[in-house]
Amino acid sequence: MTKMKVGLVGCGNIGADLCIFLQKGSVPAEIAALHDINEERANLLKRSFHLDAPVCSLEETAEKAHFLVECAVAEAVKPVIEAAIRHRRDCLIMSVSGLMAHPELLEAAQERNIQVRIPSGAICGLDGIRAAMEAGLHSVLLVTRKPPKGLMGAPYLQEHEIRIDNLTEPMIVFEGNALEAARAFPANVNVAGALSLAGIGPKETRVRIIADPKATENIHEIHAEGAFGRMQTVTANLPSPRNPKSSYLASLSACAELRAAAQAFLTYCTYCEEKVKQRTGS
Ligand SMILES: NC(=O)c1ccc[n+]([C@@H]2O[C@H](COP(=O)([O-])OP(=O)(O)OC[C@H]3O[C@@H](n4cnc5c(N)ncnc54)[C@H](O)[C@@H]3O)[C@@H](O)[C@H]2O)c1
Repeated sequence: MTKMKVGLVGCGNIGADLCIFLQKGSVPAEIAALHDINEERANLLKRSFHLDAPVCSLEETAEKAHFLVECAVAEAVKPVIEAAIRHRRDCLIMSVSGLMAHPELLEAAQERNIQVRIPSGAICGLDGIRAAMEAGLHSVLLVTRKPPKGLMGAPYLQEHEIRIDNLTEPMIVFEGNALEAARAFPANVNVAGALSLAGIGPKETRVRIIADPKATENIHEIHAEGAFGRMQTVTANLPSPRNPKSSYLASLSACAELRAAAQAFLTYCTYCEEKVKQRTGS
C-alpha cells in the first residue's frame, strides 16, 4: 500500500505522540526521516519506536519526505516552511506562535500552492470562526481559565509581581490581544494563535486569562460576534496521558491533521496513477 512519507522535525513529546498514533496503523503514513537540534533526542525516538528512518539535517528530511511535520519550537517554523517551499512539500506546523510572528510565511507558502496545516489544538469552534470570516467578524474574545499552577512561572506574572499561589477566588490575571498574550503567557500561545489565525488576526483577537483555584481542567471559551450572529464555545481539557503539561485534545488535533494530510496525499497519488494509465492506455 502507498504510504505518505513524513519528515519529523522535533522529536519531543508531540513527536512521540505522533509515532504512537502512526504505529496503530490506521493512517497510510510512516516516518521517513527525523530531525532534531538535539540529535540524541532524534536517535532516542528512532530506537524507541524501531523506526526505519534516518536521523538527518532539516534539508535531507525535507528531501526524503512527502510531508513535513514541525513539532519543535517557534524558531524552527521559518526554516521548516522555507524548506517545505524549496522542496514543494505540504506541512503541519505545531508551534503556532512561530506563525504569529511571521505571517508573511503563510502568504509565501500560499503563493506557491504549499498547504500549511495549522492544528486546532486544545480548542473547538474554529470551523465556525472560519465560516463566519466569510461575512466578517466584529469581535473575537478568548477566555482561558486555568488552575493557578498551570500559569505559574509565566513572564507576565513575574514582571507585574502578580501572586496566584494563595488565591481563594478566581482572578483575571491578563487582558490584551493575542500577540501580547503570546509574549505574556507563552504556554498559552497555541490556542490564542490558532484562534487568531482562523479569524481576525492576532492584533484584533482579545484574550482574557483567569487563574481559578477551583478549576480542575484547562478551559477555553470563544466568544465571537459578526454578520452571522453570535457564537460561544467551551472546551474543558484533560491533560494528555503521556504528557501532563499538554492538553490531550492538542495531540489529538495533530493526529487528525496528519490523517487528513495522508488521505489527501493518497487521493492525489490515485489521481496521478489514473492519468498515467489514461496516457499509456494500460
Ligand atoms: N498547536 C498546539 O495545539 C500545540 C500543542 C502542544 C504543543 N505545541 C507546540 O509543539 C511544539 C513541540 O511541543 P512538545 O511538547 O513536543 O515539545 P518538546 O520540548 O517535548 O519537544 C521539542 C523538541 O524539538 C527539539 N528542537 C528544539 N529546537 C529545535 C530546532 N530549532 N530544530 C529542530 N528541533 C528542535 C527539541 O530538542 C525537542 O526534542 C512546541 O512549540 C509546542 O508549543 C503545540
